[in-house]
Order: sequence, then structure tokens, then C-alpha cells
Amino acid sequence: MGTVNILTQFQINDTEFELLRKLIKELTGINLSDQKKMLVVSRLSKRLRNLNLHNFTSYYNYVTKHKDGRQELNHLINRITTNKTDFYRERHHFEFLKDILLPQLYEEGRKSGRLKLRIWSAGCSSGEEPYTIAITLKEFFKHKPGWDVKVLATDLDTEMLDRAVKGVYSEHVVAPIPPEYLYTYFKKGIGANKGLFLAKESLKEIITYRKHNLVTEELSVRNPFDIIFCRNVIIYFDEATKLKIIDSFYENLKSGGHLFLGHSESLLGREDRFKLIGNSICRRTD
Ligand SMILES: C[S@@+](CC[C@H](N)C(=O)[O-])C[C@H]1O[C@@H](n2cnc3c(N)ncnc32)[C@H](O)[C@@H]1O
Repeated sequence: MGTVNILTQFQINDTEFELLRKLIKELTGINLSDQKKMLVVSRLSKRLRNLNLHNFTSYYNYVTKHKDGRQELNHLINRITTNKTDFYRERHHFEFLKDILLPQLYEEGRKSGRLKLRIWSAGCSSGEEPYTIAITLKEFFKHKPGWDVKVLATDLDTEMLDRAVKGVYSEHVVAPIPPEYLYTYFKKGIGANKGLFLAKESLKEIITYRKHNLVTEELSVRNPFDIIFCRNVIIYFDEATKLKIIDSFYENLKSGGHLFLGHSESLLGREDRFKLIGNSICRRTD
């Protein structure tokens, strides 16, 4: 390691990087490798400038000791998370949901009389994932009255949650949505929103957004979920944290419930609790 100085006036030394790396891991679970020094500098430089601080030692002291440090922690977290997402990301998951899982859950519901479905999108970023789930649900249940179907969407990044709640996207972002669904579930913006697409109330009403940190908080919900999506989130954590989260999904899923992970994420030996039944699709074994 050594000192990194990119196009900003700020430099970070090894001690400062270690302190921030440890703090970020405690706050978010995100495990930054030595190669992420530049990322820390580039993402946090604006914060230093805004606070009129001259180096990362002052920034660390500010967030850990200053009376307004708690507020700054939120900015720190929002700067450090990686929020890449897309509508219909890993499309095969939504095909499985539509063609296999929902028909199965529908039949089970008809037999048991429990016409209720609860889905959790954990690490929902700016909303593309929960809105894609909601479109799939709306389409499947449109001629099947009586069902109570809801999505809980959570993230620890408050800026992303604000964007998700607004549900306003550019033409480029909505491009993966099949046109017939786009025109059913989004309206074209006017005035200041010209050129943008706004999620309609019919879609928004089945999603609840909530700030939640997968690493530091327990999710308190009354009933376990039928399905959990947590894709491209645990990839940033170390093994112990990944395992802890996979175990918490086990606790938060109904018996036989399904967990969707990202394409490069695995069960890490938790095959006693989950069975891999498809491409990064797992079912709780009991
Ligand atoms: C790369 S995005 C993935 C978004 C979406 N799941 C997808 O696959 O398209 C990862 C998201 O996880 C969130 N995240 C990171 N650490 C988290 C934590 N400890 N608790 C909750 N969310 C977290 C980030 O804020 C970010 O929005």
C-alpha cells in the first residue's frame, strides 16, 4: 500500500484507509480490499470539501467524534454503497417467478385458502428490482381476484430509497421493460418530468419501502416471507457476514420458501438449510 492521490487535492494514507475501512465494515458489512483506496478517495472527496476538511484524519474524527457526525455517517454510507441495478436484471429469475413459482404458490394458496403472498427485496437500490417484481405479480394476478400480494423493499442507502419511492426513471433505464408493461404500469412525465417515466400508483401501492441494514439490524416482520430476493448485495461482504445473512434469510422465510441470489453469489455451504433448484434460486429445505 502507499499514498493515493488522484485528480483531487486529497490524499489518503494507510492509517486513514484502515480506520475508514474498519468503520465502513462495521456500519455496512462492506469489505473493502486494499485496491479500493482510490474508490474511497474519489467517493468521499466531495464530502471533505463540503465540510471544509483538509484530510481523511479530520474526516474520520468528524464522523466518529463531532456532534453532527451521526448525520455525516449517512452521507458516508450513501457514498460507499455500490447501487448498480436494472429493470429485469437477471431476467431468468423473473421468468422462473412468472412461469413456475407463482403458478405453484397460486395452487398451494387455493388449496389452503391462504390467498396471501409476501416478498422481500433486500438491497433494493433505486427500485428497479421491486418494481420488476411488482409488474410480474400484477400481471400474474390480474385475473385472479382475492389475493393479497405485497412487496417489502429495503436498503440502507437513503438516497436510493428516496429514488425508489419516487419511481421516476429515464427512457434509457426503462428500456428493458417490455413495452406493453411499460405503458400499463408507467406514465410519461410532463413539464419538469418530460422525457421521464413515472411508476403508476397501481404498481407503487403493493410496495412498501423501508430503511434497513442487513448487517446491523434484525428485520422485524410479523410473518415470514414466501420469497426473498437479495441479489448482488452479499457479494460485498466477508464470508462470516454472508453466512450470518443467509441464516437470517432462513429465519425470515416460510418453510419451503424461495431465496433468489445474484449470479455470482452462493449458499457458502448452507446446503443443509437451502437446496439450489435453479440458476442462483434456492428453496428452504424444511
Ligand atoms: C448492487 S446493488 C443491487 C441492487 C439489486 N438487488 C439488483 O440486484 O439489481 C446493492 C445494494 O445493496 C445495498 N446494501 C449494501 N450493503 C447493505 C446493507 N448492509 N444492508 C442493506 N442494503 C445494503 C446497497 O445500498 C445497494 O443499493
